[in-house]
Amino acid sequence: KKVSIVGVPMDLGQIRRGVDMGPSALRYAGLIEEIKSLGFDVQDYGDIHIHRSTTGTDQEQNLKNLQEVIKTSEELCLELDEIISKGGFPLVLGGDHSISIGSIAGISKHYKELGVIWYDAHADLNTAETSPSGNIHGMPLATNIGLGHPYLLNIGGYSPKIKPENIVIVGARSIDEGEKALISEMGIKVFTMHEIDRKGMTAVMEETIAYLKERTDGVHLSLDLDAIDPVDAPGVGTPVLGGVTYRESHLAMEMLAEAEIITSAEFVEINPILDNKNQTADVATELVSSLLGKKLI
Ligand code: ARG
Ligand code: MN
Ligand code: MN
Ligand code: MN
Repeated sequence: KKVSIVGVPMDLGQIRRGVDMGPSALRYAGLIEEIKSLGFDVQDYGDIHIHRSTTGTDQEQNLKNLQEVIKTSEELCLELDEIISKGGFPLVLGGDHSISIGSIAGISKHYKELGVIWYDAHADLNTAETSPSGNIHGMPLATNIGLGHPYLLNIGGYSPKIKPENIVIVGARSIDEGEKALISEMGIKVFTMHEIDRKGMTAVMEETIAYLKERTDGVHLSLDLDAIDPVDAPGVGTPVLGGVTYRESHLAMEMLAEAEIITSAEFVEINPILDNKNQTADVATELVSSLLGKKLI
C-alpha cells in the first residue's frame, strides 16, 4: 500500500506564527522512516507553496488572510485529487486547520458519501458571521458543509463537500455559541469530553465506527493536536485544558486501524515554537503509526 505525504506549512488561518513549521517538525520526528518501517511504500510530495501577501489583505470581512488561504487551498485540492487518482493514501501534514478546506475539497470528489472524523478540542464550525476571532482555522468544518464565504465554498468548484450527518466530532470542549446552534440545527454527531469521560473512549469509538460504517463510503480523519491534553501535546496554538489523553488517543487510532475505515488523514496545528522539545510532533508521529496499524506485539 502506498502512503502519499503532503506538507502544508500554512499559518495564515490564525494569528500565532510557528504552526507553519509543523511539517518540518513531523519530518524531524522521523515520520517518514516510521511509516516505511511499517512496510508501506511512502511517497513524499514535499510541501505546498504558501502564497503570502506583502501588502496585507483586507481584514474587514472578519476573514483574516482570505485570499492567501484560498490560493493555498486550491493547490492542495489539486494535489490530493491527483494523489487519490493514482491510488495513494493521502496523509496531509499541517499547518493550521484552515488547510482542511483544501484537503477535503480534493478528497471528497472521489466519494459519494465521504465521512469525516473531526478529532479536535474545537468544532471549527464558525462562519465570518459567528467567528469571535476572524481566524479561518475556526471555520473549515462549516465551509465543508457549505456554510461561509462564497470564495471558500467554491474551492474545488463544488459545494457542499460533506453532509452534516456524515460527520463525527470527537474531543470537543471549547464550542462557541454560533457553533452550538449549528450543531443542533444540523444534527451533527458530537462526542464531547463529557461523553469520553462518561462512556470511555472504547464506547465512543465503537459508536463512531458503527455510525460511519453504515452511511459512508470513505472516512477522512482530521486530527487537530489540540484535541489531546496540553500535558501530552503542549505545542499547539489554541490549547484547551482537560483533553483526551495520550493513551485514549492511541486506543482511538488502533480501533480505527482495526476497523479499516480510514481512507485519508491529516494531522494539524502542531506549533514547534510553543512545544517542549518536539513532544507534540513525536506524539503525532506515534498516533500516525497506530492509525496505520502498528501493534505492540
Ligand atoms: N473557536 C475559536 C475560533 O473560531 C477557536 C478555533 C480554534 N481552531 C483550531 N483549529 N485550533 O476562533
Ligand atoms: Mn503557487
Ligand atoms: Mn482545535
Ligand atoms: Mn481545529
